[in-house]
Amino acid sequence: MKTIPDQRIPMARVDITPDDIDAVSAVLRSGALRQGEVTARFEDSFARRVGARHAVAVSSGTAALHLAYLALFGPGDEVIVPAFTFVATASMLRAVGAVPVFADVDPRTFTLSAADVEHRITPRTRGIAGVHLFGNACDVDALRDVAARHGLALVWDAAQSLGTEYRGREAGSYPVAACYSFYPTKNITTGEGGMVVTDDPGLAAALRLSRSQGAAAKYVHTGLGFNYRMTDLAAALGLRQLARLDAYLARRRENAARLTAGLAGVPGVLTPQVTEHASHTYNQYCVLIGWPDGPGPGRDSVASALAGYGVETAVHYPRPLHRQPMFDGQGEGLEVSERLSEHILALPVHPGIAADQAAAVAAAVVDVVTRGA
Ligand SMILES: Cc1ncc(COP(=O)(O)O)c(C=O)c1O
Repeated sequence: MKTIPDQRIPMARVDITPDDIDAVSAVLRSGALRQGEVTARFEDSFARRVGARHAVAVSSGTAALHLAYLALFGPGDEVIVPAFTFVATASMLRAVGAVPVFADVDPRTFTLSAADVEHRITPRTRGIAGVHLFGNACDVDALRDVAARHGLALVWDAAQSLGTEYRGREAGSYPVAACYSFYPTKNITTGEGGMVVTDDPGLAAALRLSRSQGAAAKYVHTGLGFNYRMTDLAAALGLRQLARLDAYLARRRENAARLTAGLAGVPGVLTPQVTEHASHTYNQYCVLIGWPDGPGPGRDSVASALAGYGVETAVHYPRPLHRQPMFDGQGEGLEVSERLSEHILALPVHPGIAADQAAAVAAAVVDVVTRGA
């Protein structure tokens, strides 16, 4: 029987309370809209929450990556990144003249394969950027081991993983630095916004300089800088969202558990696997349709059939980065990333839906797949 949810189930919904509006309005009323003391408080709270010594707030996750890479890498440096990630993980290396070298991901956890990283190390390799993708953690131990043995800097793209833990510690708090995003679909939002965290005071100081025109004092510019400052308006929202992070993560995990229970044992549908020692925060809940269990209905036909049930879905990511025009031809032997791009499908899991809606999403997927989309 076709189970159609009562209402359309969207892929994202931002949670803004009347108190959030009051907090942002208070900044508006103060007239101090630029980066100031509210941003400083957000940085302090964020650093405490993730267990890092320093947190540097910026205008986006992309800006966070740009500044971290600028501080750590230079022209011609090779940095190994997953082929299966959001473009900024790699494109911001280009922005500092470094060379992204694509490695494949693990087919179960969708995160960077340490074994494949090791194959791609050359005398020019200077770093690794691990992405805690969809809220699952990388195999932090394995990547730290490779980085330590080869003397490489390890940066975490934690855009999607605020609250994700690895061995009981925030996955983005491991050295040397991690970059977060507060885009509206992330685990908390400031509209647009980002943060770099690190325990290294020299790196934090460099990030603060490059965030704001390289200015050590007013009109004294000691190095290349940008305007990547966060405004106090954004930070006021960030402080309030951060206070609700645990509640958001509990809802994400409950919704994910409902999806996984509803999809257990469905032929041709593989539910997300959690990295060993990690706690997934399900920024995205991505299933594989028709691979490696196949053949089954195609991913795209399942997505369009689900739209007919009122269930929104998304594809993160429809092309691996080595197939993007800007990186075309860079990289081979990236079969897992290619298969994931063909078979992955994100289902609604965010805290804006109730657990019974997550159960309805699972039931709709079962209907579609068993009837043959
Ligand atoms: C893995 C990853 N890295 C970087 C970014 C860039 O963050 P922003 O959109 O805040 O610039 C995103 C945002 O979608 C992301 O998902």
